[in-house]
Amino acid sequence: MDIHNVAVIGAGTMGHGIAQVSALAGSAVKLFDASPDAVARGLQKIRDSLQKGVEKGKTRAEDAEAALARITGVSQLGEAAEGVDLLVEAIPERIELKQQLFLSLQSLAPAGAIFASNTSSLSIGGIASPLADPGRVIGMHFFNPVPIMALLELVVSDQTRPEVLDAARAFGARIGKETITVRDMPGFATSRLGVCLGMEAIRMVEQGVASAEDIDKAMVLGYRHPVGPLRLTDMVGLDVRVNIGEHLARALNNPAFEPPALMRQMVAEGKLGQKSGQGFYRWG
Ligand code: CAA
Repeated sequence: MDIHNVAVIGAGTMGHGIAQVSALAGSAVKLFDASPDAVARGLQKIRDSLQKGVEKGKTRAEDAEAALARITGVSQLGEAAEGVDLLVEAIPERIELKQQLFLSLQSLAPAGAIFASNTSSLSIGGIASPLADPGRVIGMHFFNPVPIMALLELVVSDQTRPEVLDAARAFGARIGKETITVRDMPGFATSRLGVCLGMEAIRMVEQGVASAEDIDKAMVLGYRHPVGPLRLTDMVGLDVRVNIGEHLARALNNPAFEPPALMRQMVAEGKLGQKSGQGFYRWG
């Protein structure tokens, strides 16, 4: 199962990054979004990031140019799915949306194409369950910013076929990522640990244990985390993390994941983190 032709569904923060690393590694990539504006914004972000990579000496100018030439923006799902070996969805974190998307794609994509989900916490088996061939589905969980972060978390359901995992591992190596393989349990390895730490840090702010800056400094300097849990929550988005936390609290039956009242209040006030300009920190 060699992967040459890739389609990325959703041109947002994660989708454009996944398209970028796939194209840099030599794949022909279709970047789909239902909104042509979102496709145009995604392509512009890829141009900017490739340019930054060139300026930082990480990417050769000719490689950046060749990667850009390999990416086609599309706003018709049928066009995205035609002739692909791998489809990666990076659409909002709602299982019914992802199921519906894969159901539509199953009649549009070649029978042998792998369907990957970039979900950070939803069940891969659940996303795959309505499909005629759930064994073609795997989790490919990327991290933001995709061109810089070294990890690709592969999530296998009970039904994921071994050759699908092998192909995903080979693809991960080709795009320069280290892969880990994780069973389809709520939160996988990364979100389960990362979200738990983030929620506890917010409870500590609530209880007045220390300032957000000092709680982050505790982890950055004391534990060598590159970014503290509160700054990271800002970067991911408080609204996004509330949804993940609610889901994990339910799925793992563990109140440690329950979003604290302070977090819900901040979301209600529009303090969503980096994207809104205000979270635990002021941005921009
Ligand atoms: N292309 C290629 N390389 C680039 C680049 C680009 N566009 N931009 C930067 N780089 C390289 C730099 O050259 C540098 O390389 P060296 O380490 O070899 O010098 C490296 O990337 C870091 O770049 P900077 O020093 O310019 O960047 P920074 O100091 O601002 O740090 C960061 C960037 C490492 C991403 C840092 O902000 C960080 O650690 N952020 C947290 C990231 C994180 O935890 N992400 C996970 C979020 S959770 C998630 O995504 C999953 C989920 O499910 C929600």
